[in-house]
Amino acid sequence: MVQRTSGSGVEDLKSQLNIVDVIGRVVPLKRAGSNYKGVCPFHNEKTPSFVVSDQKQIYTCFGCGASGDVIGFTMKYYNLDFMEACEKLGRENGIEVNFAKSDNNKDKARLYEINREAARFFYKALTEKANPGYTYMKKRGMEDAILKKFGIGYADREWDSLYKHLKSKGYEDKDLIDLGLASRGKDGKIYDKFRHRVIFPIINTSGKVIGFGGRRIDDNDNPKYLNSPENAIFQKKNNLYALNTTKQEIGREGNAILVEGYMDVISLYQHGVKNVAASLGTALTENQARLLKRYTGNVILCYDADNAGINAALRGVDILVPQGLKVKVFHVTDGKDPDEYAKTHGKEGFMKLAKDASPAVQYKLDSAMKGLDVSKDDEKLEYIRKAADILRRLSPVEMDIYVRSLAENLKVSERAILAEIESESNKPPEPVRRQTDESTDLKLSPLEGNVISAILTNPDLTEQLFEDPGVMESPFAKKIENLFFELFGSKGEFDIGDLNDRLDPEESQALTRELNGIILAGKEEDILRESIDKWKLSNLRKREKDIVNKMDLADESDMGQEMLESLTRELMNIQKEIKKYGGKE
Ligand code: GTP
Ligand code: MN
Repeated sequence: MVQRTSGSGVEDLKSQLNIVDVIGRVVPLKRAGSNYKGVCPFHNEKTPSFVVSDQKQIYTCFGCGASGDVIGFTMKYYNLDFMEACEKLGRENGIEVNFAKSDNNKDKARLYEINREAARFFYKALTEKANPGYTYMKKRGMEDAILKKFGIGYADREWDSLYKHLKSKGYEDKDLIDLGLASRGKDGKIYDKFRHRVIFPIINTSGKVIGFGGRRIDDNDNPKYLNSPENAIFQKKNNLYALNTTKQEIGREGNAILVEGYMDVISLYQHGVKNVAASLGTALTENQARLLKRYTGNVILCYDADNAGINAALRGVDILVPQGLKVKVFHVTDGKDPDEYAKTHGKEGFMKLAKDASPAVQYKLDSAMKGLDVSKDDEKLEYIRKAADILRRLSPVEMDIYVRSLAENLKVSERAILAEIESESNKPPEPVRRQTDESTDLKLSPLEGNVISAILTNPDLTEQLFEDPGVMESPFAKKIENLFFELFGSKGEFDIGDLNDRLDPEESQALTRELNGIILAGKEEDILRESIDKWKLSNLRKREKDIVNKMDLADESDMGQEMLESLTRELMNIQKEIKKYGGKE
């Protein structure tokens, strides 16, 4: 069996492939400067923003942010894991993929094998003759086909049936104990860990049995679920239950429904909701978010309708959203969990709720309102503070949308909510800049550097610059600005490579130098907005000073009452504007 290594095998494979050829076979590419461009296969678009670099051997989509090397592309495009992608690339390009098997990998291979054998043993126990596990699952409405699909098993009441079975196959005590299938009792004997439980095998996306969940059958004091312990092949934080079975459906549907429990997954699946998976009895992790992202950009959380479920959903949102996933949330409105709901309302009922799931921000706003009576002024204020904490992290456009609806619903001004959001405590980080003191002509002000950096990161922001073109003041910045408009107009998308193609060598060197050290930290929209606002503010201040000077003059000369009045009016307007952009009078 082949295992993933980071050794020479992968680099060898990559060095024999050209990403432009590999992608070019499935995505029509056109040459664009030093790069190739096409329509992104990972999101819907009309104008191409998918760029493949021959030189760097990577692809990047400026529309959806997808990016990676040739193996990454193959994984994402065909929904494969790393090994599968390497194998496919090797096979199709006549390259022998030789991954050395380390001792470590041999160990893991043996552990996978033991788990597979155990899963088979449990499955036979549930399916081959009458047993309490089968009876229990039938009582819960599960069909034979589903038990088979998910390899559901039964661990019997004996103390050591699995242990004896695995020993007869020649496996060692240590491995069985490490895997959590057996444990050593006080008497020194070894016993089965799972007894009299329904067994849910946990299988990773490459089809390996990595662990088990076992549900108590009788109502007693034992824990309801018993899960395999963490070990060399089982890390809860890296896996999701059932994703091996449901990943294709998730890709096809374009979203994943995440639930809390094993039973929720298989029950929904039986009712025809197949784009579903569950975290493994723990809070959602970043790695699980990244794993999901291989199959879809959209997640719908449907956790239990109790307080624990609501809190888990709120935490889940904060894990998923930073990974670039679009998240919606809902809870079932009848029964305690998706399993119960699906049983009484079927797929149609469930999907109706899913269709109306709240976008993550709305869900957070709604939960923040819980327990507050916003018809009372002090509680309304408390809610607005909480809401401001939520909205502060959003992009300007998103913020605008929510501020508007909040203002309307609460009967307060948008200005007041914005002021709460902007209250000094929690501003996005200022970009960090390193001091440089190079040549004089090809220099950018810190503000210009930030703007250019932001736009190179997200060319869509060019439109905002177009509205306030005066931001760019130095000759070098103006030249770059013009190139932005040109590139944006002709291609819609561009990167620093496109820009460098149009600059003299010393200009591109200077640009690299000037941008060096600017860290946007994913806040390019905020930073652009802030830069523009800062520029506007400084302009307003200049005009304010101008007018004050003129008024002084008017006093001294005999400019006339009318002139003085009009200057006063202008001054008042400017001071109002200054306030709007955060300046003090
Ligand atoms: P049913 O009661 O069989 O419908 O299970 P459920 O999936 O509805 O269970 P519940 O909502 O209580 O728990 C959700 C998930 O949390 C389960 O699927 C388990 O993964 C995990 N879990 C629940 N109870 C326990 C427990 O006692 N111990 C451990 N380790 N995990 C548990
Ligand atoms: Mn349940």
